[in-house]
Amino acid sequence: MAILRNDVIEFVTQSAEQTTRLGRKLGTLLQPDDLVCLYGDLGAGKTAFARGVGAGWGTTLRVTSPTFTLVNEYPRADGIILYHLDCYRLQSEADAITTGIEDILDARAAVMIEWPERVETFLVAERLNIYLRHSDINRRGLRLEAKGGRAQQLLDRFRQVAF
Ligand SMILES: Nc1ncnc2c1ncn2[C@@H]1O[C@H](COP(=O)(O)OP(=O)(O)OP(=O)(O)O)[C@@H](O)[C@H]1O
Ligand SMILES: [Mg+2]
Repeated sequence: MAILRNDVIEFVTQSAEQTTRLGRKLGTLLQPDDLVCLYGDLGAGKTAFARGVGAGWGTTLRVTSPTFTLVNEYPRADGIILYHLDCYRLQSEADAITTGIEDILDARAAVMIEWPERVETFLVAERLNIYLRHSDINRRGLRLEAKGGRAQQLLDRFRQVAF
């Protein structure tokens, strides 16, 4: 772990459970209209992290890999939804539109996206970017980077609970 800048936090996790646990802490802090973009190669741990976010968000449903469903919805007790998108298979903007991504991003909801590179043109600049890196069999690097004041507040609150 090293704090490089105010808008960046880095971690190294040693197991999938540890990555999920970090996600859970972020999930407790997420608010409607927050956008979290999960970058990283296949197997980097994006879904492991997202599963924790879902748990922290307070859904009664488990966050499973949305690889084949593209969009999963996790409603909280108060009805507000956390959307979990996996955009890996999207080939074009038209493809993305058919997933309903525009409505999802317009809704008063929290959104986290795996493979956000595929839908970058739909996304606002203000978001929490998370870069996951496969560094060893059970070791992953996570870099959280706040873009904009709202994400910075989220990151600041996360810093208080994450260590
Ligand atoms: N420290 C770690 N953090 C996260 N996952 C880990 C870690 N160590 C091992 N793993 C394993 O790596 C795999 C991560 O898979 P996961 O589905 O989360 O990746 P992903 O980034 O979502 O990939 P994809 O792009 O295919 O959706 C799992 O099998 C998990 O058990
Ligand atoms: Mg995944």
